[in-house]
Amino acid sequence: MSIVLAIETSCDETAVAIVNNRKVLGNVVASQIDIHREFGGVVPEVASRHHLESINACIDTAFEQSGLDWSEIEAIATTCAPGLVGALLVGAAAGKTLAMVHNKPFIGVHHLEGHIYASYLSQPELEPPFLCLLVSGGHTSFIEVRGCGEYELLGETRDDAAGEAFDKVARLLKVGYPGGPVIDRLAKTGDPQAFKLPEGRISLPGGGYHPYDCSFSGLKTAVLRLVQQFETEGKAVPVADIAASFQYTVAQALTKRAVRCAGDRQLQTIVVGGGVAANSGLREILTAAAAAAGIQVYFPPLKFCTDNAAMIACAAAEHFQKGDRSRLDLPVASRLPITQVQTLYAPLVPLKGKS
Ligand code: KG4
Ligand code: ZN
Repeated sequence: MSIVLAIETSCDETAVAIVNNRKVLGNVVASQIDIHREFGGVVPEVASRHHLESINACIDTAFEQSGLDWSEIEAIATTCAPGLVGALLVGAAAGKTLAMVHNKPFIGVHHLEGHIYASYLSQPELEPPFLCLLVSGGHTSFIEVRGCGEYELLGETRDDAAGEAFDKVARLLKVGYPGGPVIDRLAKTGDPQAFKLPEGRISLPGGGYHPYDCSFSGLKTAVLRLVQQFETEGKAVPVADIAASFQYTVAQALTKRAVRCAGDRQLQTIVVGGGVAANSGLREILTAAAAAAGIQVYFPPLKFCTDNAAMIACAAAEHFQKGDRSRLDLPVASRLPITQVQTLYAPLVPLKGKS
């Protein structure tokens, strides 16, 4: 049993959760989407200020939902990297202060590790090894997960992340923010075969293509050209058909690589994480392709695909059980490769000064 309270403020969601290993006891997400919508994207300084305003109420509500009190919390976790530094600082300062005041261990968490473990919240039996397809607003990565903290990055995007591509294409189509859910909805009424769009393969110096790395910036440019062509000709832009064709191309590109990656590594399981794991096209296409290849695939429940603190608490509980603890002077970082998560748990180094 590991009861962990976690705080997540790496971007535009103020989130607090209490979990007992994989069981969610309290889960609060205060979204700032409506605030950032008028700017068409997240404004970092605005995000930090809203985290500061919301965080105490989110903690109180998580406790109310769980019915627990502080004495029952075993560890306090906070996302410390990667993310917007000002936003991360609000959560980290709150988490460390609470750890100090209540005399509990503090566990800094890598945001992407949270996305990796989001599927654990609905799958009590799921264990490594598996391939994680991590598709969020900032990352598109193919990661071999061998154990908690043991990751190998096998492939990634060379430019835009999958979620970022959804957001940018939604902006080109002038259909709203954030782009992923809007495109997903529009795609349901469009024809995915209406337009053949480029998949974005990465050429290798000796010829051929990289088996796992991908690129979405060319796809975004192809959508821009298509929109401009309709506008130049004075025709209505077929928004639903473009959305469906774009979504289909992204889902195919991710599926092909994930299935190949899992096969090459002899992994029988693919675990998907991140906001784009909510995409219905990706869910359908990857589920079918994985089944055909004899691979089991897990997607988190929709509410745990996008940013939340339950997944952070779940990742923290894994580290807590391993004995990992973070120092209270652990800094936050805008970037930290997933292969370096163990640096969050570096032991206290004794000072060797001359007396
Ligand atoms: O994981 P997340 O909440 O935040 C990051 O860590 O980046 O992912 C947010 C991203 C956004 O780009 C959003 O457009 C995308 O996930 N997203 C989706 C869907 N829901 C959210 N993309 C495609 N289809 C969706 N249904
Ligand atoms: Zn995220």
